[in-house]
Amino acid sequence: MRIADIENPTVPYFRGNFAPVQVEHNEPCTEISGEIPTALNGAFLRIGANPVFVNDPESYHPFAGDGMIHEVVFDQGRVTYVNRFVETQGHLAEQELGRVIWDGLKTAPEDAEKYGPSKNIANTAMIFHAGKFLALQEGAHPFHLKLPNLDPVGETDYEGRLNHPFSAHPKIDPRTGELVTYGYNVMSKPHCCVSLITEKGELVHTTGVDIPKPVMMHDCAISSNHTILMDLPCVFDFTRMAEGKSMLYFEPENGSRFGILERGAEGSEVRWFDVASCYCYHTVNAFEEGDEVVVEGCRSERNSIGDEERPKKGDRRDLPMLHQWRFNLKTGEVRERALDSDWGSEFARINEDYIGVRNQFTYAARIAGDTLESGFDGIVKYDLVNGSSMHYPYGPGRLGGEPIFAPKPGGENEDDGWVIGFVWDEQLQHSECIVLDAARFEEGPIARVVMPARVPFGFHSAWVDRNLWEAQQ
Ligand SMILES: [Fe+2]
Repeated sequence: MRIADIENPTVPYFRGNFAPVQVEHNEPCTEISGEIPTALNGAFLRIGANPVFVNDPESYHPFAGDGMIHEVVFDQGRVTYVNRFVETQGHLAEQELGRVIWDGLKTAPEDAEKYGPSKNIANTAMIFHAGKFLALQEGAHPFHLKLPNLDPVGETDYEGRLNHPFSAHPKIDPRTGELVTYGYNVMSKPHCCVSLITEKGELVHTTGVDIPKPVMMHDCAISSNHTILMDLPCVFDFTRMAEGKSMLYFEPENGSRFGILERGAEGSEVRWFDVASCYCYHTVNAFEEGDEVVVEGCRSERNSIGDEERPKKGDRRDLPMLHQWRFNLKTGEVRERALDSDWGSEFARINEDYIGVRNQFTYAARIAGDTLESGFDGIVKYDLVNGSSMHYPYGPGRLGGEPIFAPKPGGENEDDGWVIGFVWDEQLQHSECIVLDAARFEEGPIARVVMPARVPFGFHSAWVDRNLWEAQQ
C-alpha cells in the first residue's frame, strides 16, 4: 500500500514530523529572517528514510525507507530548497510497479529472482570525494548523484575493485585527500574489510579484518596514521529468528574492543584493545598524542535495539554521551573517561579540516530525555580542549537533528564557520533551516529560513562548498 493513502496512521514513523513526504520541490525560499552571509555558498544536505510503499505498516523498520535528500542551496544570500528521492534502480523499479518489491526478509522468491536480492536505499549519509557526491547506506555500494539538482548517475564500485559492503561513514583525511572505508559482512568471513581510496578516487587496497562474530559496526574513525574499528557487541545471530526474536541484539559476553590498524596495512596486523562494555553508533574524531591513539565518540552503556521492550523512563543505559578512549600503542594500556556525564548527545560533527588530528570543537544534537527516542532539543558546542560546553536550545515544541559545520572561506580558526541544521516547529507546523555563526554560538541563529515544505526528521547531514560541486565529475 501507499503510505500516503493510510488514514490516521498509528505507526509513530508515519505520524507528525516523522511522516514521509511524497512531493519533490525545487523552489526559492522567500521567508528569511536575519541575514544569510554572502560568503556562505554551497549546499546543506540532509538525508533520511522516506518510504513510499509498505506491505505491513506495523512491521516497518525506520531504517528501511527509500532515501530522500533535502537540500538548501546558499548562493550569495539567496536560498533555494530542493528535495528529491535518491533514484536508485530499486527505488525506480518499485515506483514503476506501484508496490513493494523488497520487504526485508520476506521478499517473494520470484521478485528476488527478477529484481535482485536487495535494494540499495542509499538513505543514511552522504560524502563528497574525488569529485563525486555519494549517497551511502551501510551494506550497499555508494550511489553517485550530481549537485545541486540531485540527478542520479548510478552505483559506483570503483571499477570493479570494491568487493565488500561500503559503510555509511567512510572518512576523508583532509591532509592526503584519501578516503578510508570499511564494510561489515553479516553472512560470511571476514566479517569486516577495510579499503583505501586515493584522492583521485582509485581504490588501491582492501584487506580483511577478522572478528569473532558479525556485529553492527556503524562508524569508524581515522587518525593521521591509523584506522580505528569498533567491534562492539550488537551481534547478528540468525538462529534467534526461528524463536521470533530480533537477529540483532546486544550480547555483552561477546566483548567490546577497538581495533587499531595502520593505514594501508594488512588486517592481520590489527591490534585490539578491550574497553568497558558499551555501544557507540558514531565517533566524533580520532587523533594521535605521543604513543596514544585517542578516540572520542558518543557512547552508551548498552544498545536495546534487539529487545522486545524499549527502555523505560529514567533508564539511561541506552543514552549516548560524549566519551574519550585512549589507547597506548606501546604499552597496550587503555584509559577511558566520560566527557559529559549530564546530557546525552548524538550526531556530533566537526570542522572536517580537523579529521584525524586534535580538534577543539564539536557540534552535537542534544538529546532531550533519557533515550534517543526523546528527540533532539538543541545543539551543544563542546570545547574538548578546555572541557566546557555551550547549549543553544531550539525552544519549546521545537526539535531538530544533526547539525553540520560549514567552514568560512579563508577562515583561520577552527570555529570560523557556520553551524546549520533543520528544526521542526510543532506549534507553527513548519520546518526551518537555521544558521549559527560557530564562533558566536551563544548568540543563537543569525538567520532562519522557513522551508517552503515540511522537512521530516532524518539521519545525517553534509555540507558541500559550491567550488567543490562546480568541479564535480
Ligand atoms: Fe550514522
